[in-house]
Amino acid sequence: MIRVDLNSCKSFIPLPYEAALAPRLRIAHDHLQKGDGAGGEFTGWVRLPQDYDKEEFRRIQAAAKKIQSDSQALVVIGIGGSYLGARGVIECLRSPNYNLKKKETPNIYFVGNGLSSDYMSEIVELLDGVDFSVNVISKSGTTTEPAVAFRFFREMLEKKYGADGAAKRIYATTDRHRGALKALADAKGYETFVVPDEVGGRYSVLTAVGLLPIAVAGIDIEALMAGAREMMDICTAAEMDANPAWQYAGARYEMYRTGKKIEILAAYEPCFRFMAEWWKQLYGESEGKEGKGLFPASVEFTADLHSMGQYIQEGERLMFETVVKFAPRGQFLNFLAGKSMDFIREQAMDGTLLAHVEGGVPNVTLYTDGLDEKAMGQLIYFFEYACGLSGYLLDVNPFDQPGVEAYKKNMFALLGKPGYEEMRAALLAKLGR
Ligand code: PA5
Repeated sequence: MIRVDLNSCKSFIPLPYEAALAPRLRIAHDHLQKGDGAGGEFTGWVRLPQDYDKEEFRRIQAAAKKIQSDSQALVVIGIGGSYLGARGVIECLRSPNYNLKKKETPNIYFVGNGLSSDYMSEIVELLDGVDFSVNVISKSGTTTEPAVAFRFFREMLEKKYGADGAAKRIYATTDRHRGALKALADAKGYETFVVPDEVGGRYSVLTAVGLLPIAVAGIDIEALMAGAREMMDICTAAEMDANPAWQYAGARYEMYRTGKKIEILAAYEPCFRFMAEWWKQLYGESEGKEGKGLFPASVEFTADLHSMGQYIQEGERLMFETVVKFAPRGQFLNFLAGKSMDFIREQAMDGTLLAHVEGGVPNVTLYTDGLDEKAMGQLIYFFEYACGLSGYLLDVNPFDQPGVEAYKKNMFALLGKPGYEEMRAALLAKLGR
């Protein structure tokens, strides 16, 4: 289970903040449970670990088996909430070096999360002579980056396997009814999976969005959902002592209120890097609006203690640290004077915590049961629930992302999309073209 240790942050916040904050947390909690707060139509993830579509879940498992049997690689096309969770879970539970390892399951390449032709060319090279399938993921079905990548890899598949053969190797995860991708998938006969209407992109890792790539990597998605379900049940408790999400959301809100504007998520496992990226999107997009919100940053310890460590210890006193601590996996390798690596790391963790707190950086430590499917499911749900609470404590809608649209509109105008003519002229003038 997740345990939230606030011992090293309480001296930084006015006490007794829990009693003062409890009524507001209760309101936020009720909004999540009843789906009647701002953006309430996007709170389908709250009960997802119990109410998910069991028939589709079996289809995901069957599709994963098929991909494992007919493909040496899976190309996962998606951006933001349509890829970070899957990548985070795969790297944590299989390895950041997953593709390099000897294994029974296909390599997984994540594309469509940027606009680099060099990156795409490299993936094409890696796929040379390789049987592969494609999972294209876009809730809206209109996002530029995955659309560009999908056109490219679809053509590659069609050249290699013919139109019919390609259609059997393309899996589309998108809206149930709407969007260009849904229309194309129906026309071409791709197997489709649904991003439920009531689940936004960054809360969608436990839908087909995350589950299909995760299952293809050989991860037990039933255990992942079971872990999330356990945390879902715990998070129904409407009291501080029983609900770890209340504890985390409450403490980080108080720190924000008292001047800590940056939250640094840290882990001592390099495999956590993309879970941290997922967390940054979750919190950044949910809280960062109306001139409010903690800025979510992440570091990898101990590597970053030798780079960012200086700033954290002695730079502007703007941040607090949240450290995710996994129960050791029991690899008791002796490295230094008969001491195991885990023992040395424990001393590094404790030493860092004491130094940073001494330097004015409050610390929240999140203890997990381990680094397996269940623990990961628990952690995902815990972060999602605390994020929903946090948004409501800040009095913003945690489920919209109006700011993401700004760059998209400019890009559409500059690309000459019909309907954007006036805007295009204004932008070109600003650019001096
Ligand atoms: O959280 C979100 O809504 C975004 O990050 C989306 O996931 C991202 O922009 C991709 O959108 P889509 O899945 O519609 O292509």
